[in-house]
Amino acid sequence: MTGSASGKLILCGEHAVVYGHPAIAMPISQRTTVTLDRVDGPSHFAGPADERATKVLRLLASETGWRATVDSDIPIGRGMGSSAALCVAIVRAMGVSGQEAQIAAAMVGEREFHGNPSGLDVQVSVREAMIRFQRPHKLAILAAAPRWTVVVLDSGFPGNTKKLVAGVAARRPGIDPVLDDIGALVHEAERVLDDAAKLGPMLTENHRLLTRIGVSTPQLDGLVELALTHDAAGAKLSGAGGGGVVLAIIDDPKPLLTAAHQRGITAFAFGDHA
Ligand code: PMV
Repeated sequence: MTGSASGKLILCGEHAVVYGHPAIAMPISQRTTVTLDRVDGPSHFAGPADERATKVLRLLASETGWRATVDSDIPIGRGMGSSAALCVAIVRAMGVSGQEAQIAAAMVGEREFHGNPSGLDVQVSVREAMIRFQRPHKLAILAAAPRWTVVVLDSGFPGNTKKLVAGVAARRPGIDPVLDDIGALVHEAERVLDDAAKLGPMLTENHRLLTRIGVSTPQLDGLVELALTHDAAGAKLSGAGGGGVVLAIIDDPKPLLTAAHQRGITAFAFGDHA
């Protein structure tokens, strides 16, 4: 039995989404595929897997009876939705059908991975469309694919979503006005979603706000600067931060990709001019 699901990138609104503000996220072409085969004994992964992933497999499939083989090109811990894609792929391999049922089942695994996930990752992974999501259940499908080009710059370091979300929680209520500003910015961004020149500066502003809630790093700030000095319309960290990736929206991705590769930074583009 096989199931597959896509990764995601958050365009804007991460962290604030945990507290009821909207966020916009989109699927990426990178996917995770899980094949389940019957075996005797405890359920386990065919390849190396940490304790948490094994626990998730046992929660979503069953304690015993399955070997899971994973094939994935989503980097782990980079804010690209690897854990949600794994959860959705497992529940699809188990034959759970219907988007709502898949979301409910996959969320059991996401809670195990992340403690208090907003559900944004699972929503994108299941719906495979750009969405605006607001806890608990407010959802709008925005577009099949972005009309601008996105460059993803990988910091090379994983971010620990559970720790970063807990860190933000610990800084409340002092940072609540910044979370409110992020929520307001997402509403604005949705209105100019097709216009890279207008959307870009809003994304850069979103990065500045994420810096203020303590989830950026000097390295991520440096990647944002690199993008902006290579003609990006805007750039920000995407996902929980602390590591992971920066996304930039840009007309011509080539100069930025060349600059990134010259510095040994893993970078790729998708969208209109990729
Ligand atoms: O880094 P990721 O892909 O796990 O994204 C986390 C997004 C947060 O808003 C920080 C948390 C959440 O549950 O939405």
